[in-house]
Amino acid sequence: MSDSREQKWWKNAVVYQIYPKSFQDSNGDGVGDIRGIISRLDYLKDLGIDAVWISPMYCSPQNDNGYDISDYQDIDPMFGTLADMDELIAEAKKRGIRIIMDLVLNHTSDEHRWFQEAKKSRENPYHDYYVWRDGEPGVYPNEMKATFGGPAWEWVPEVEQYYFHQFAVEQPDLNWENPKVRREIYDMILWWMDRGVGGFRLDVIDQIAKEPDKKITNNGPRLHEFLRELSRETFQKGDLITVGEAWGATPEIAKLYSNPDGSEFSMVFQFEHVGLDQEEGKEKWDLAPLSLVKLKRCLARWQRELYQTGWNSLFWDNHDLPRIVSRWGDDGEYRVESAKMLALVLHGMQGTPYIYQGEELGMTNVKFHDISEYRDIETTNMYDERISEGYAKEDVMHSLYAKSRDNARTPMQWNDGRNAGFTTGTPWIAVNPNYTKINAGAQVNDPDSVYSFYKKLVHLRKEQPLFVDGKFRLLYEDDEQIFAYTREDEEAEMLVCANFTGTPVFCPAVEEWKDGDMLLHNYPGEPSAELKPYEAVLYLRKKRN
Ligand code: GLC
Repeated sequence: MSDSREQKWWKNAVVYQIYPKSFQDSNGDGVGDIRGIISRLDYLKDLGIDAVWISPMYCSPQNDNGYDISDYQDIDPMFGTLADMDELIAEAKKRGIRIIMDLVLNHTSDEHRWFQEAKKSRENPYHDYYVWRDGEPGVYPNEMKATFGGPAWEWVPEVEQYYFHQFAVEQPDLNWENPKVRREIYDMILWWMDRGVGGFRLDVIDQIAKEPDKKITNNGPRLHEFLRELSRETFQKGDLITVGEAWGATPEIAKLYSNPDGSEFSMVFQFEHVGLDQEEGKEKWDLAPLSLVKLKRCLARWQRELYQTGWNSLFWDNHDLPRIVSRWGDDGEYRVESAKMLALVLHGMQGTPYIYQGEELGMTNVKFHDISEYRDIETTNMYDERISEGYAKEDVMHSLYAKSRDNARTPMQWNDGRNAGFTTGTPWIAVNPNYTKINAGAQVNDPDSVYSFYKKLVHLRKEQPLFVDGKFRLLYEDDEQIFAYTREDEEAEMLVCANFTGTPVFCPAVEEWKDGDMLLHNYPGEPSAELKPYEAVLYLRKKRN
């Protein structure tokens, strides 16, 4: 293969996401930690993944579970030490796994030294590290709202000004207009690169170039100028994988982020498909019926638009999203079949796939009976807000069961022992009671498990160049049950065909491809043209010359 292909190792990679608080506890304090991650590296190697993105482990008061950083250059004692981190990087490297750090550059914690200084006086050298506006107590600069509820402005009497925060009050926004802020950030990133990290995931990166006076939060006018500078000053000095989180990305914008010239990032997380289940113009809690046609059109458009002009990331789950098998699959009778089907449909597309911890086991959403069992700041704020607005408790709980971020944050289910093998202490958030049935111990050596299916998919990607380069074509665009597509290059083509529902459906493509090699199938035996509930198959055939 050409040099450029070799350089872009991440096009061929599969990334695994760890939410460290909930992955593996090693010291019995009920919170996952770095030594816990080290102890599970062999599991990750067995799965075959190439890189691990770990949600933030920097020093943090944990108002937003680490997305509120108080020191970018140290590890929170809850997770371990810098020495543990160095060991993790080294141990992962021995197994051919790179470590991707999560960079939160839009805001810090209000306990960060910069903010502590900034709020002392308007003359303080750090004051201008944040975004301030004049006003009077109770008279906000404008009516902008924060993502986690309440106004986006917070009054600081010492300076008689408001600071801007797009997320929680404890997460003041950094002022990217200030070149000193940018320099501090670049130096910090270079410091981590020197420690050997393999890449970065950039938290809400499309929000850094805000212009609050114009109510612009994401995609501000200077965004791509800042990103190109960031990339030039840091990432381009190494061979990294970089992925920006951009809720506001369209394919056009994503082409800038993931420009093959490497001027910004390797790729971008876009969320258009994630928003399809919410009522238009409302909040994520307001559920709309699912439409497979909409989902297919959306994903197909991204496949088409970024073909050879950018690069997609492929994901169903992350630490902010509900479990996919509970959202688009069936977490009851057909849990295993639907988890495998969803995996195949996703991994067969063009882009770099991400597996969120437990997804490879078919882990499901959780139903806690009382709000006191929830831990996520977004969830608890929204609950209080809606209850005070007069919503019925059952309705609010119903939204949480579908969408709360805690669905993804219950502890990793390692085995059927106490606390699912996650901790010997009291877990910081309760374990999903279905761990006795759904756990890694039961799946790793079972060739028919969801885990083994993921493992095969991960390995297939290494063997079949079509996964990386093949051109995507959607079939049966208007069908509300079938998700089918082909990928094709000069030498070969493959078909992914899936029943997205619990009702059998007739799919002629399966007949047409019978002469191909069946590489994966989520039921025993050969498929027929009548696909069973959640049945999915992958065929490959060489082109005749
Ligand atoms: C991103 C993170 C999320 C966090 C938010 C604020 O969306 O994924 O967990 O709460 O940014 O940092």
